[in-house]
Amino acid sequence: MNVNFCLTLTIFVVLIESFTDGTCNNEIKCHISKVRSMKGADCYDRDFREFPQCIRSDIEIIDLTKNRIKQLRRSDLERYKYLKMLYLQDNFLIKIENTTFNDKTDLTTLDLANNGMSKIPQNIFHLPSLQSLYLSQNTNTNIVETMERAAPITSPLTQCDISFCEIDRLPEIGILPTLVKYNISGNNLNELNVRQFSGLCGLKYLITLNVTITLEDPCQCWNTNRWLKGKNVEFKPFECELKENLCKEVPFNKTDLVAYEKCSILLREITAKSMLKKILIPVLVGLIIICIGIGYYCRRRKKLNKKALYHKKALYEDSAPMAEEI
Ligand SMILES: *[C@@H]1O[C@H](CO)[C@@H](O)[C@H](O)[C@H]1NC(C)=O
Ligand SMILES: *[C@@H]1O[C@H](CO)[C@@H](O)[C@H](O)[C@H]1NC(C)=O
Ligand SMILES: *[C@@H]1O[C@H](CO)[C@@H](O)[C@H](O)[C@H]1NC(C)=O
Ligand SMILES: *[C@@H]1O[C@H](CO)[C@@H](O)[C@H](O)[C@H]1NC(C)=O
Repeated sequence: MNVNFCLTLTIFVVLIESFTDGTCNNEIKCHISKVRSMKGADCYDRDFREFPQCIRSDIEIIDLTKNRIKQLRRSDLERYKYLKMLYLQDNFLIKIENTTFNDKTDLTTLDLANNGMSKIPQNIFHLPSLQSLYLSQNTNTNIVETMERAAPITSPLTQCDISFCEIDRLPEIGILPTLVKYNISGNNLNELNVRQFSGLCGLKYLITLNVTITLEDPCQCWNTNRWLKGKNVEFKPFECELKENLCKEVPFNKTDLVAYEKCSILLREITAKSMLKKILIPVLVGLIIICIGIGYYCRRRKKLNKKALYHKKALYEDSAPMAEEI
């Protein structure tokens, strides 16, 4: 009977452990540290096959570069409510559930480079904080179609990397004023035109290394170079098939000029808003500090005055104790 009891107890303990801490005892550990005043988990090259579920749930950065994760579901990310940066470069991702990034409103950086997804969820282009998106070396994805369907992109994307994705044309993503850096390296394009850039009025750097061009209308290549040069984009001009002097310089399509103008208006608004934030907040803080300072000074003076008054009164009372009685 005693033995039986012990056995039951042991089984019970083992069961409880496997339900509570057991899974986390078995999970590979990540190194937790502060990165630029954010809580980060370094899980680089740890042989993870599933998205880790035992990192502290208030983590802000997870680096899972170089692991063996195959799929990403909403339930995988659900417990990480404060996630700002997620690095999944160089995994075996073939499937990402549509709803995976729902509610990831703080996410600013998403690195999915070097994976094998055939589809990327469209709603990543509507994440309200997403600034940097890396999709390079996903050679079998519907990136172009997804970006076009997502247009207008509402995420404040400043960097987008679709290099070496084996795409044969760039997406016509419409107006995206925030985009500053666009990496389209390593693609062999057989469609290239101004329309693919006309809504990108904030573009400063276009990375075009190892791009090859084979166009039906080869003069579009010069048109695009001319447009980008005119908009002061820093880039290595596309290597066109024809000599430039064989192409007639035609005026740009009005649709493109209008898109650029619309984008510029939006960009000015965004810049003004961010300037306001940058200036208004420090000014407000400054004002509050000054107010507190003045308040403190006034109270101190009042106190001193009271003290002085009291002092005077005391002196007066001392020197003329009789006067009051009279
Ligand atoms: C995921 O989204 C795509 C595009 O929006 C849609 O075509 C597909 O049906 C969705 N899949 C599921 C399972 O909802
Ligand atoms: C652009 O992409 C290529 C290939 O992925 C990469 O090697 C390069 O560093 C990227 N350039 C920039 C400026 O991000
Ligand atoms: C890119 O082009 C350069 C030469 O221009 C070449 O040396 C390099 O290997 C190419 N890179 C890739 C990844 O194709
Ligand atoms: C300008 O673009 C519009 C819309 O794509 C197109 O219908 C029109 O034919 C283009 N005009 C010229 C002159 O290419």
